[in-house]
Amino acid sequence: MVMKSRHYTSADDLMIGIDQALRTLFGQPQVTERPNPADAEAETEQGEEQRLHTARLMRINHTGEVCAQGLYQGQALTARLPEVRESMERAAQEENDHLAWCESRLKQLDNRKSYLNPFWYAGSFTIGAIAGLAGDKWSLGFVAETEHQVTAHLDDHLAQLPTNDDKSRAILNQMREDELHHATVALEGGGAPLPAPIKLAMNLTSKLMTKSVYWI
Ligand SMILES: [Fe+2]
Ligand SMILES: [Fe+2]
Repeated sequence: MVMKSRHYTSADDLMIGIDQALRTLFGQPQVTERPNPADAEAETEQGEEQRLHTARLMRINHTGEVCAQGLYQGQALTARLPEVRESMERAAQEENDHLAWCESRLKQLDNRKSYLNPFWYAGSFTIGAIAGLAGDKWSLGFVAETEHQVTAHLDDHLAQLPTNDDKSRAILNQMREDELHHATVALEGGGAPLPAPIKLAMNLTSKLMTKSVYWI
């Protein structure tokens, strides 16, 4: 249970923020009670080239979750969100599950996290903070749009993954379900549909992320 009554100074906030950023990038994020969905599935054989491709896809998904952390943490800094704070905190924690699951899958596939994570984290944090400043209806609309785009992206990855890679698929399927739920929560909390140029800019930015992280 988070104690809401304690009064935090800006210095406290700064330290909490730095702690969250370091955990996201280099440490152990605070996860929920849920088990890793991949644990229930058996490992399957993949050819060397296929395995490398799979690992790179999972690296993209890992970085996507780093971005999700940046967005939620940046937004938490500036948004008020009195009505939906609790569900948003739960959503942010579920993003930590995603982060941990993708990282563990990456290790199983003998691959590494992206070197660009600090860069994408910082960018997402800034965008999240700006969205939070724009007001609750826009910042919730931003979450909903992000989650919808992530869901479409996950569909694309599910189509690319080998059909027998049950571990990776179990993770992405659970993530997909969670992201759809996060979008619903944000819309029900009063999120407004974003203007088309913003949606397009978000789409182009995420393309840049996926293309760069596949290699770096
Ligand atoms: Fe996620
Ligand atoms: Fe999400």
